[in-house]
Amino acid sequence: MMDLIRRAAEDLLASKCAVALTGAGISVESGIPPFRGKGGIWERVDPMEFGHIDTFEKDPGKVWRVLIRDLKEIIDRAAPNDGHKGLARLEAMGLLASVITQNVDGLHQMAGSTDVLEFHGNCAWQRCMDCGGKKRTRDVDISSLPPVCACGGVLRPDWVFFGEEIPPAALQRSRQLAMRCDVMMVVGTSAMVHPAATMPVIARETGARIIEINPERTPLTGYVSDYLIRGGAGDVMNALVSELESMG
Ligand code: APR
Repeated sequence: MMDLIRRAAEDLLASKCAVALTGAGISVESGIPPFRGKGGIWERVDPMEFGHIDTFEKDPGKVWRVLIRDLKEIIDRAAPNDGHKGLARLEAMGLLASVITQNVDGLHQMAGSTDVLEFHGNCAWQRCMDCGGKKRTRDVDISSLPPVCACGGVLRPDWVFFGEEIPPAALQRSRQLAMRCDVMMVVGTSAMVHPAATMPVIARETGARIIEINPERTPLTGYVSDYLIRGGAGDVMNALVSELESMG
């Protein structure tokens, strides 16, 4: 792994605009389960049922009981890990411009990253299905489900359900960054969900170096990624930051 760490450090030092695309894997070491693979959320909850806006509109209480309540409680307890902190450190070193994240946990911002594009929205806010008013999730009373707004409307997480569009501003800026960057680090994503998983393809097509960080191979590996640094995000980011600091 160390030869690839050195190679990634050299690629970052030579880059003019590096960005990161992250997925649920970077938050696993913060205690938030991934969606797919061992222990994944979608192993016990059907995504096409409980992760879809149609089900939420039909029976919001069921989706709150089966999916949202538990995920909210896990996220409320989570703190950034060395993976998030490593990306924030790269930004502080002037080596990373932005983070495009599929995650809704807000951990990149908590770790200190300042330009975070939330591709799938976030869980920090709830939005009223009637008046559109927003309320911090931590201030929402979930003793009865679904929670309701002062206007009586049902509250829903400010994230993107399956069947909904990606926030246009996040999608447009992500595409621009993918076209402009010369290095894209792809950390902790199975690259199974589009259009997020198309960002590394766009970046590669416009000449960027694609560096994957993941314990497993993904559909990008060997086709879109220049190389895969196999390991957990925390360990790899710690090694990468140490290498960069030793290179002065
Ligand atoms: N460090 C880095 N990567 C890890 C770690 C770790 N410690 N642990 C697991 N992984 C990797 C897994 O190997 C897998 O490739 O993280 C990835 C997690 O994949 P998913 O659970 O599919 O998460 P993600 O790619 O973010 O899913 C994309 O799908 O369900 C939707 O909206 C949801 O945003 C999500 C999207």
